[in-house]
Amino acid sequence: MTSEPYLLTPGPLTISLRTKQSMLRDWGSWDVDFNNITARVRARLLDIIHGAATHECVPLQGSGTFGVEAAIGTLVPRAGHVLVPQNGAYCQRITRICRVLGRRVTTIDYAEDQPVSATDIDQALAADSSITHVALVHCETSTGILNPLEAIAQAAARHGRGLIIDAMSSFGALEIDARTTPFDALIAASGKCLEGPPGMSFVIARRAALERCEGNCHSLALDLHDQWVYMRKTAQWRYTPPTHVVAAFDAAIAQFLEEGGVAARGARYAANCRTLLEGMRRLGLRCFLPAAIQAPIIVTFHAPEHPRYQFNSFYDAVKARGYILYPGKLTAADTFRVGCMGQLGEKGMAGVLEAVGAVLAQLRAST
Ligand SMILES: Cc1ncc(COP(=O)(O)O)c(C=O)c1O
Repeated sequence: MTSEPYLLTPGPLTISLRTKQSMLRDWGSWDVDFNNITARVRARLLDIIHGAATHECVPLQGSGTFGVEAAIGTLVPRAGHVLVPQNGAYCQRITRICRVLGRRVTTIDYAEDQPVSATDIDQALAADSSITHVALVHCETSTGILNPLEAIAQAAARHGRGLIIDAMSSFGALEIDARTTPFDALIAASGKCLEGPPGMSFVIARRAALERCEGNCHSLALDLHDQWVYMRKTAQWRYTPPTHVVAAFDAAIAQFLEEGGVAARGARYAANCRTLLEGMRRLGLRCFLPAAIQAPIIVTFHAPEHPRYQFNSFYDAVKARGYILYPGKLTAADTFRVGCMGQLGEKGMAGVLEAVGAVLAQLRAST
């Protein structure tokens, strides 16, 4: 085990030593060697979703939210109208982005343990022809719920509306195929399922949609059309790129491909998730979501029912045993989360369960 704790969080997460070591070299942002890395990263990201023939990958400096805001600002015209089905905090953030950017927005609200319904989307689009785009969070990381992307993509396509997918915590672990799933834009980031460091987001946009976006964006720095045109012309980023992050992301993608791509990464996370669910059940902890709608990415657990339980001391005790938990993000229930992603070391999820079990035993003995 390294001396640093493992991160059981959905990004930043624990990255491999090889990925960390790839940040030890400095790169000139104009240099052909760095430009080649950028080109390789963009091409490989497109290939992961089989999008090379139809889509473009536009990388952007900054965390995932920068990518989401750039996609909404660039793809949705100023007179556009966005439908946001909401079942968690990241959907709500999209709604907030639309409001801040002055894009008209309509929401459909669900409880945090209910997946978005494609039938509801279908009906909303049939009832309101002014809606130009649907913005969907694929895996709502605030709970770990999986929304039915495929059915919603088909509904949006049937009505001729654009689909913007926040695939931040699913890209690379859950299969998304641009040849069969119609979408205008998909957003993810370096520090999630591809297991790079945080600091770079990317938007995979349908070429025909992106070509029409000149002048849409409210912002210079977040204008994906401008970034794309400049990159096409010069092979460079418009403004200073996060060079070390891009180099490390390139190394992380190489390891992702060596591991076996989406199928292998998804299988590893799914195995982690099964071990976690089963182990926590044995420790007497209840998960928040039913198994059928649980994505194998991050799991929300109800707080242990004990009068002395406090998240902060629980967190500190588990951290002292080598693991960093993630707080809950629910409005109603007292919960905490455990990510299934990243490099979890030799012991893997068994080590996590050992640490949580020991801390729970201490808590229960303290009555
Ligand atoms: C589904 C989803 N959307 C958006 C974000 C925001 O990304 P960031 O915190 O990198 O800005 C996250 C972060 O975990 C996420 O899980």
